[in-house]
Amino acid sequence: MSSAQGTFKKITTHRLLEMKATGEKIAMLTAYDFSMARIIDAAGVDIILVGDSASNVMAGNETTLPITLDHMIYHATSVVKAVKRALVVVDVPFGSYQGNSSEALRSSIRIMKESGAHAVKMEGGLEIRESVSRVLSAGIPVMGHLGLTPQSIYKFGTYTVRAKDEAEAEKLKSDALLLEELGCFGVVLEKIPATLAKQVSDSLTIPVIGIGAGQDVDGQVLVMHDMLGITQDFKPRFLRQYADLNQIIGDATMNYIKDIRSGDFPNTEESY
Ligand code: KIV
Repeated sequence: MSSAQGTFKKITTHRLLEMKATGEKIAMLTAYDFSMARIIDAAGVDIILVGDSASNVMAGNETTLPITLDHMIYHATSVVKAVKRALVVVDVPFGSYQGNSSEALRSSIRIMKESGAHAVKMEGGLEIRESVSRVLSAGIPVMGHLGLTPQSIYKFGTYTVRAKDEAEAEKLKSDALLLEELGCFGVVLEKIPATLAKQVSDSLTIPVIGIGAGQDVDGQVLVMHDMLGITQDFKPRFLRQYADLNQIIGDATMNYIKDIRSGDFPNTEESY
């Protein structure tokens, strides 16, 4: 079987480590449903993240906090059914792992068992050390997430760039090392200075995936709806928009309405 990337070979956490070692850049993108996951998997994306950004782009919430474990499992189950090649990573949602390693384990086991996903992602470093260790000890691959961690938005109070000061940068570096030591297979760095992201990437053997973290990391991730231009009024500096689906879908819908109103659709060939 082949994909847009050539010969079909399933992406594993081991393969991602190889990619880091050989300097092959990793492409990661979010998806939340079967149809879109099938398209981006066939296009050759390496990691599909069932992000808790589903809370924003699928459910219309202002933050990622309201999404539940059941919602995440629903989205992940739909994505997994579509995917033949990519590694599917699922966000463990807010309130289902912080401060309680037993709950972290229960939540992660539910995600893996009920959706068939390949790995989970959790936000934070030292604060969630026990949760990360416990989940890893059950044989579940864990990806870390440092820098701007949207589940802590009410602690930060703003979505601006993180770790610009020395103290926060030092903590981020030691958290990244800790996550690698614990056994995480990768870490997402969100919205931090590019020079800091490079230092972290250089100091780790596991892949570092950036979003708003510059180019000197091992791969990039974007939220699908932002990348495809479906999201409106969200244009951070780090976002490169590869399509304007908002315009395309809007135009197609207006043409559809026009053809119905004019009696052009359906025509005789579209009728039985
Ligand atoms: O939920 C999400 O989409 C994420 C990415 C922004 C990395 O965590």
